[in-house]
Amino acid sequence: MSDARSIEALCRRFPPGFVWGVASSSYQIEGAAAEDGKGPSIWDDFCKRPGVIADGSSGAVACDHYHRLDTDLDLLTELAVDAYRFSISWPRIQPTGAGAPNESGLAFYERLIDGLLRRNIKPYVTLYHWDLPAALQHAQGGWAARDTAHRFRDYAAIVAQRLGDRVASFATHNEPWVTATLGHELGLFAPGVRNRAIAAQVSHHCLLSHGLAAQAIRAVRPETPVGIVLNLSPITHATQSGADVAQAALEDGLLVRWYMDALLKGAYPADVLGHLAADAPRIESGDMQLIAQPLDFLGVNYYYPTIAYAGKPASPATPGAPITDMGWEVAPASLTGLLARLARDYVLPPLMITENGAAYRDRVENGRVEDKARREYLESHVRAAADAIERGVDLRGYFVWSLLDNFEWASGYDKRFGLYYVDYATQARIAKSSATWYARLMRACRLRRS
Ligand code: FCB
Repeated sequence: MSDARSIEALCRRFPPGFVWGVASSSYQIEGAAAEDGKGPSIWDDFCKRPGVIADGSSGAVACDHYHRLDTDLDLLTELAVDAYRFSISWPRIQPTGAGAPNESGLAFYERLIDGLLRRNIKPYVTLYHWDLPAALQHAQGGWAARDTAHRFRDYAAIVAQRLGDRVASFATHNEPWVTATLGHELGLFAPGVRNRAIAAQVSHHCLLSHGLAAQAIRAVRPETPVGIVLNLSPITHATQSGADVAQAALEDGLLVRWYMDALLKGAYPADVLGHLAADAPRIESGDMQLIAQPLDFLGVNYYYPTIAYAGKPASPATPGAPITDMGWEVAPASLTGLLARLARDYVLPPLMITENGAAYRDRVENGRVEDKARREYLESHVRAAADAIERGVDLRGYFVWSLLDNFEWASGYDKRFGLYYVDYATQARIAKSSATWYARLMRACRLRRS
């Protein structure tokens, strides 16, 4: 089949209103870490610790997106996306995490949102993609303190009030498992705490803050959809041994059921509470009802399957399977399986794939980046998403991670996920061949619609 025919055939597998987009986050692309009144975030602090970021870098400059907003928005037009998912930096809006908003911070996101609307692109806003105002960490231990959930509610109310009339949807948190587990149990991400009890409490406070923020947004913008974004991965056991099977069930509890059950069933899974024992979080009466209020959508970030082994850490790849530059297995069928499992085990709101993508060692040759592997990764996962729809999953959108190569957290700038290559010396952006393919797909899908 010719390329154009195969793209058309792929589009036909998606409903006409399906939302195609790309995603990014504030700390990973904006730079301008101390400009226009922005306060420091826990990532600004964390990156200063020796040895925590692979290349010793930080997001201080990143893609300099803050100063290149208009030309970066033009890339979205070039791609022909329906929607752009980005996050708002809380310390740009409230430099210390509390009190009156910083008008210049709001003005930046107003320009961003208005720029999208002028280009006919829907703004999908994430309120928290890990850049907590550092002042809240210093004063009260950040998410370990229950009060931070209330501060988050106030921040959400400010954003909903000032920007909420123009956004297509609000996601409260991006991947609260990462905030809790990588940030507070393994200490690999900011704020770099290593304490399982604190991590469990943090996960509860993040979920509580989701509930509080959702209420606050709905109070001012009842018409705007509100949801949350989780990183979910199907967990398989390395062997059929009872110990591996039990480990897989526990890992599924910690990553998937802890969040899904709380949000959709209003209770944490009993087996995980039993496992945490004395480290289980303190929960006040009414918390679970707040957490489990109706979601307008659930965002799923999917990258790889997880293989569980008794007695050693889980792995993001089956031995010998194809992997990306992150060491993550390329397993599109696991995406279909994951979505089908969610639809089987839960009464779900509409789903969106809010992130999916791959890092590869891109090279610029003669001014071009031929990233066949990324294009194949994306195409196979888009097909897997279509398979899920055909199996009855109510999937409404798909966002590629990411628009630009960017600051990949503890991996620094070495891992490139972008559809656009970024030359960090000059800040030039170069469309990779995967971008050209994705743009063709989105144009073809849009044509079907008109
Ligand atoms: C996700 C994050 C995103 C990016 C991708 C590769 O977990 O949400 O910021 O780092 O992984």
